[in-house]
Amino acid sequence: TVTQRANALIARMTLEEKIGQLTQLGAEVPGPNKETPDELIRAGKAGSVLWTIDSDLIARLQRVAVKESRLGIPLLFGYDVIHGYKNVFPVPLGLAASWDPALVERSQAIAAKESSVAGINWTFTPMVDIARDARWGRIVEGAGEDTFLGVAMARAQVRGLQGPALGTPERVLTSVKHFAAYGAADGGRDYDSVFVPEVTLRNVYFPPFQAAIDAGAGTVMSAYMTLNDVPASGNAWLLRNVLRREMGFKGFVISDAFAVQSLENHGFAADNADAAARGLQAGVTMDMASNSYMRQLPALVKAGKLPMRVVDDAVREVLTVKLRMGLFEQPYGAPERKAAVFNDPAHRAATREAAQRSLVLLRNEGRALPLAASLKRIAVIGPLGDSGEDILGSWTVEKTTGVTVLEGIKARWPQAEVTFARGGDMQRAYPLPWDADQGKAAPALMSAAEQQAELAKAVATARQAEAVVMVLGERANMSGEAASVASLALQGNQQALLEAVVATGKPVVLVLLNGRPLDIAWASTHVPAIVEAWFPGSEGGHAVADVLSGAVNPGGKLPVSWPRSTGHVPAYYNHNRTHADETGRNFTSRYSTDAPSSPLYPFGHGLSYTSFTYSGLTLDRTTAKAGAPVKVSVTVRNTGAVAGDEVVQLYTHQRSGSAARPQRELKGFQRVHLAPGAEQTVSFTLGRDELKFWSPVTKAWGVEPARFDVWVGGSSAATAHTEFQLTR
Ligand code: IFM
Repeated sequence: TVTQRANALIARMTLEEKIGQLTQLGAEVPGPNKETPDELIRAGKAGSVLWTIDSDLIARLQRVAVKESRLGIPLLFGYDVIHGYKNVFPVPLGLAASWDPALVERSQAIAAKESSVAGINWTFTPMVDIARDARWGRIVEGAGEDTFLGVAMARAQVRGLQGPALGTPERVLTSVKHFAAYGAADGGRDYDSVFVPEVTLRNVYFPPFQAAIDAGAGTVMSAYMTLNDVPASGNAWLLRNVLRREMGFKGFVISDAFAVQSLENHGFAADNADAAARGLQAGVTMDMASNSYMRQLPALVKAGKLPMRVVDDAVREVLTVKLRMGLFEQPYGAPERKAAVFNDPAHRAATREAAQRSLVLLRNEGRALPLAASLKRIAVIGPLGDSGEDILGSWTVEKTTGVTVLEGIKARWPQAEVTFARGGDMQRAYPLPWDADQGKAAPALMSAAEQQAELAKAVATARQAEAVVMVLGERANMSGEAASVASLALQGNQQALLEAVVATGKPVVLVLLNGRPLDIAWASTHVPAIVEAWFPGSEGGHAVADVLSGAVNPGGKLPVSWPRSTGHVPAYYNHNRTHADETGRNFTSRYSTDAPSSPLYPFGHGLSYTSFTYSGLTLDRTTAKAGAPVKVSVTVRNTGAVAGDEVVQLYTHQRSGSAARPQRELKGFQRVHLAPGAEQTVSFTLGRDELKFWSPVTKAWGVEPARFDVWVGGSSAATAHTEFQLTR
């Protein structure tokens, strides 16, 4: 068996070789004594390498491990293949906006295939952190604010990347991250402290991890920050009690990069040796990039300060994953197939389809969209309009570019004169240590005079056009890791540009490229059509033009509640009711004079070029024993003139119980395609899984007898309502 094989290997390993399996070398990070990766690998001092996509280097290092190290244990090559390798899919927040888990699974299977031929056998995906704060830059990497949607996306990503089981050919090992509650950083500042009570961890933050583990995720990445004052990467309650014992995780834990070493920065570990000992004892199996285990663990074991059993248990976890993956039998990628796989037209087509399905039509007053096919003069305006880099979003693998919005529009309107004006610029974020342009300073923003001149050119360009497509938002690296913001306002001169172009009186469509909700309150009342395109990937420009022209009818829905301003953060829909919700008097939970407290666009919102009606909301029973299933059915009908997709969403509310429950919670969804005039009956089951919650009073999961509200519709503001009773 796998365990016997792992144990047989462990029996033959020296202490240094054991600790090698617990060490992930940064491809560019030198060893403690300036050793090269080759030397360390040959000596059996590494179990994995990260941060290289150089297929020749990967193949060479793997040969050293397999052929030249004493025990020939193959290496894991880890990389952040987050939303595609060569062919880039929409960023994960965009994929979530498709509300289409099958699409997400197919997309990630393609990413896995491209990775595996290149020799990357492990990806640090999916990020399943619930994110309720749009200031946090990494909201772009997850499925948004909702646990139920997050569970579906977590499962789909693991299935796509890893396949039905570890060892599926052309798939890769996944690492579900960042355990846990990394998205709840104070003030949205990346890496900052997280204070989340156990009840919220269990009901909101943990379930997507559980779903990924149940889908077979082979590794889990421990987070950087302190969780309720204990660093997540030194947190035995989190990594041993919750993850391994309660969640039944059988793989191994990789720290985030340098997170073991930074146990000292947190003021938690006394020194690097203490950090290494406490990281391993808390349950971090493998140390990413910091070489703390390599440096410290041998002496600690020899001095009797760390039991060999703890080391052996960790090594067994790593070897078990490698064995289950079939890595010993098939350690190499297939770089000779790279060109064929990367250029597979089906992969490119898949990125376009994914982008089309991720686009969300936020506003469409007076049917401003779709734009007429007969347009003869179109102006594309905005600093992102001609950017093939930004359209890809953060965490791209190869240095590559995608189809720009400008190119997409030119291709879609071949007869039209399509003009372009940048209109200004915005500050780029500083490159991160692992970016290709690391070390370089952020490019300087244009001077105020240059911005003004660009803006004037843009206004003149708009005046010549019949219609204007403005492409605004964020540069790719303005959201992502270490890319938090204090304000959600459009950066640079974008707001001024937008207002100046709208003032020309030309019909304006706003296309947003961004990784987080931005403050578009002004646009929401002054710009008739707004399309949220996220960072749509390689074929992004085509997908945007497909939607603007009506060749594709948009059907994506928001995976986040859209705040009206930065002050509305957090704006998540599934908050609790308040003491005044029924009285309607002055002391309700709302902002008093300056703004409504409702979001600008609710969670689940997204328009279509057609319209849908809901009817016949029925339950198969109105009373059931707690835990017994209740079936909900509703008929959705396309009442417009064109075919379109609707995401039918079901929300519940438990009216009483051992603890207060959110005013609404998503408990079912299905994306359906309907021809004009067609209707479909959609059914959902509300069983134990959907209705259980972890009670802070009983400290257990359970379904409670109570009265439940049910709403079904096209967003979290759905109005079709019914109710049922659960009894003891
Ligand atoms: O996987 C990432 C993680 O999400 C953030 N820190 C670096 C890791 C490896 O690149």
